Amino acid sequence: MRSTRPGRLVVVGQGYVGLPVAMRAVEVGFDVVGFDVDVTRVKGLAAGESHVEDVPDEVVLAALASGRYEATDDPARTQDFDVAVIDVPTPLTDGAPNLSHVVDAARILAVSLTPGATVILESTTYPGTTEDLVAGLLEEGSGLVAGRDFYLGYSPERIDPGNAVWHFQNTPKVVSGIDAESLQAVQGFFDQLVDRTVAVSGTREAELTKLLENTFRHVNIALINELTIFAEAMGVDVWEAIDAASTKPFGYLRFTPGPGVGGHCLPIDPSYLSWEVRRSVGQPFRFVELANDVNARMPDYVVSRLTEGLNRDKRAVNGSRILLLGLAYKRNTGDIRESPGMAIAHSLRALGADLRVVDPYLAPGNVDLRLVDLNEDEVRQADAVLIVTDHDAFDYEMIRDHARYVLDTRNRIRGPRVESL
Ligand SMILES: NC(=O)c1ccc[n+]([C@@H]2O[C@H](COP(=O)([O-])OP(=O)(O)OC[C@H]3O[C@@H](n4cnc5c(N)ncnc54)[C@H](O)[C@@H]3O)[C@@H](O)[C@H]2O)c1
Repeated sequence: MRSTRPGRLVVVGQGYVGLPVAMRAVEVGFDVVGFDVDVTRVKGLAAGESHVEDVPDEVVLAALASGRYEATDDPARTQDFDVAVIDVPTPLTDGAPNLSHVVDAARILAVSLTPGATVILESTTYPGTTEDLVAGLLEEGSGLVAGRDFYLGYSPERIDPGNAVWHFQNTPKVVSGIDAESLQAVQGFFDQLVDRTVAVSGTREAELTKLLENTFRHVNIALINELTIFAEAMGVDVWEAIDAASTKPFGYLRFTPGPGVGGHCLPIDPSYLSWEVRRSVGQPFRFVELANDVNARMPDYVVSRLTEGLNRDKRAVNGSRILLLGLAYKRNTGDIRESPGMAIAHSLRALGADLRVVDPYLAPGNVDLRLVDLNEDEVRQADAVLIVTDHDAFDYEMIRDHARYVLDTRNRIRGPRVESL
């Protein structure tokens, strides 16, 4: 077995997941090639510009200055690696897993694969992908045999963009291999990068671990979202019940309602699991399907609540000036992938609203919506202020004091003219 001491590492995909891995590996002494097909992203990284909020420019600049980091879009630069990690997107296309990026990444690595090297898939995917898909592609392109000539494993990523406490290094990392030697190689690699690794017996268990974590979250958010709709109809303050339930020291985990789920994980990962269950077992995964349904309806529910709020004031959405706060799916980030805020904004615009959006994390040109700054004048002029994502940067006191009507989907403020979801 080749040594797992720092050597040459290739990270395929330099996004939210791949860039932190690459930066940490440089820190502990690896020579790192960050390979990405996005030429603009590569150019930016080569100039020391990070596109990932959790990775400051200074970290990329320090990596470049060390002489041990190179960002490239040239597949030939992936040659001679000791370890390669695959961090490419795994989206859904027409409701089914789209593994085309993983396939492309494996084919590129197969050409550079040499005996004794280790390949690790980190992209989120259904159980069986590493052994049934990636192993075959690597073998086909290299002429080598997985387990005999090279090591192969799966390690799910748990990165949580914007989380100030749990980051790549201090979050325990689940590791697996297609056999005992592969597990040893994968664990040996990540032991150098993170504080704690957790070994599981096979790649399918590791793949399922990630889907379990995200499905758990998705289902619990759907539960609290549906309960919120019923509590509102019954005239009960759901937020008070959530706070009270959260005082139970065992057997309860706090989840809060919101305008819907977004990002690259919750709207997508559980469907990888239900798709695979249906394919391999022939059964519907009812919890996932129900959660998808409930969470996907939340943007429409928010629009209907706003419509009712305006209606009480004898106003229609059509022609009303609406100030939408926070377009990103998550607080204190600019990530608008699958964001419910986008769906809400487009619905309101289609209904004829005079819509203005405030999101300090987005630059004009990022979105096809009218972005404005948050100030007293904008708040006073609006018929309704809609808080979709509660970035810390917003002046909530000012909003509460000057808005005519606020619908707050995050329960960030309370007041006589403020309604919670
Ligand atoms: N973002 C998260 O919070 C998070 C957390 C855990 C797991 N994941 C999973 O990690 C994987 C990557 O997600 P991400 O958020 O980093 O995505 P991302 O879109 O931020 O980055 C992926 C990068 O891969 C590049 N890419 C695509 N095809 C490529 C190829 N063939 N070769 C080289 N580069 C290629 C893209 O250009 C992009 O820069 C996904 O499976 C995702 O589900 C994401």
